[in-house]
Amino acid sequence: MILVISAPEDDHAVAVLEGLDQAGVAAVLLDLSQYPQHSHLTMRYDRSSARSFKLRQIDANTIIPLSSCRVAWWRRPQPVNLHPEVTDAAHRFFAHNEIHEAISGLWLALDAFWMNDPTRDEKASHKPYQLKIAQAVGLEIPVTCITSDPDEARAFVQEHGPERTIYKMFTATEDNWRETRLIKPEEIELLDSVRFAPVIFQEYVPAQLDLRITIVGDNLFAASVDTPRLSYHADYRMELGKAQVEPFELPMGIAQRLRAFMKQLGLVYGAIDMRLTPDGRFVFLEVNTAGQWLFIEERTGQPITEAVVSTLAAQVSHFSLHE
Ligand SMILES: Nc1ncnc2c1ncn2[C@@H]1O[C@H](COP(=O)(O)OP(=O)(O)O)[C@@H](O)[C@H]1O
Ligand SMILES: [Mg+2]
Repeated sequence: MILVISAPEDDHAVAVLEGLDQAGVAAVLLDLSQYPQHSHLTMRYDRSSARSFKLRQIDANTIIPLSSCRVAWWRRPQPVNLHPEVTDAAHRFFAHNEIHEAISGLWLALDAFWMNDPTRDEKASHKPYQLKIAQAVGLEIPVTCITSDPDEARAFVQEHGPERTIYKMFTATEDNWRETRLIKPEEIELLDSVRFAPVIFQEYVPAQLDLRITIVGDNLFAASVDTPRLSYHADYRMELGKAQVEPFELPMGIAQRLRAFMKQLGLVYGAIDMRLTPDGRFVFLEVNTAGQWLFIEERTGQPITEAVVSTLAAQVSHFSLHE
């Protein structure tokens, strides 16, 4: 059985669950927001070294046989929801910690093929680390300054020039999303505020095209976004509706480096953002370890959902052959 860790609202998970169902592969959605209010977790270790882990879903009266899941997809794990009757702050903190320990330990104790392994996924999602590994495999990255020192920030912006320097955040959440922005001359005086929280500054990399490369196991799908035709040149997502998205043929050397990058990070799935510059350089920006692909698939026809389904399904048959 395939364990899909996400939420019913996740259209990508729903598409893959449908695909698995059509392929006759058993899969189940695990929504952690229902824990511990609406489900009970049990992990049994017997003398015979057998283990039995299960999640009992109280309302539906169904059981997810966790220890029989040989394939797990770390898609969009949800935050857990404590019981409202635990009101004392110290008790809530304690309950949270204990839940976190049980759940993180559960992932490590499963005998599953992971897409992506949660520990590696967590590590790989840090931008400073991604930039280091991208450099290590020979990918070009933008000249970057991550700083909370206003003097360093001012010096970096001076070096590259306002309107030639962008700033962006480490992580976007659903309720706190900011596009990449070019620094305007009048914003230089705001640079003092980096002392409150570090900011990623980079040289502005002009685009001939923005590239989105989705890697799923051995499959690589590259697509281009015609950013220069849009009016906002510092982030194609601002006008995604108007953008033309097309399949793109990556040079072999770049594809090989991206595969090496994924391997070094230990990722099975990743959606990579790059820019192709007007003078033909391929510049790495980031990898999204659980990035969206439907907006690419819908416009290019690239069969990414199918690749996700078959990558997961192939591991189920791999395990049953070896058991
Ligand atoms: N250094 C840069 N120069 C020009 N454009 C950039 C630069 N960094 C990011 N962008 C644009 O902003 C978009 C979002 O940036 P990205 O690095 O992917 O971070 P995130 O998606 O986490 O916000 C990119 O896809 C690209 O269009
Ligand atoms: Mg991005």
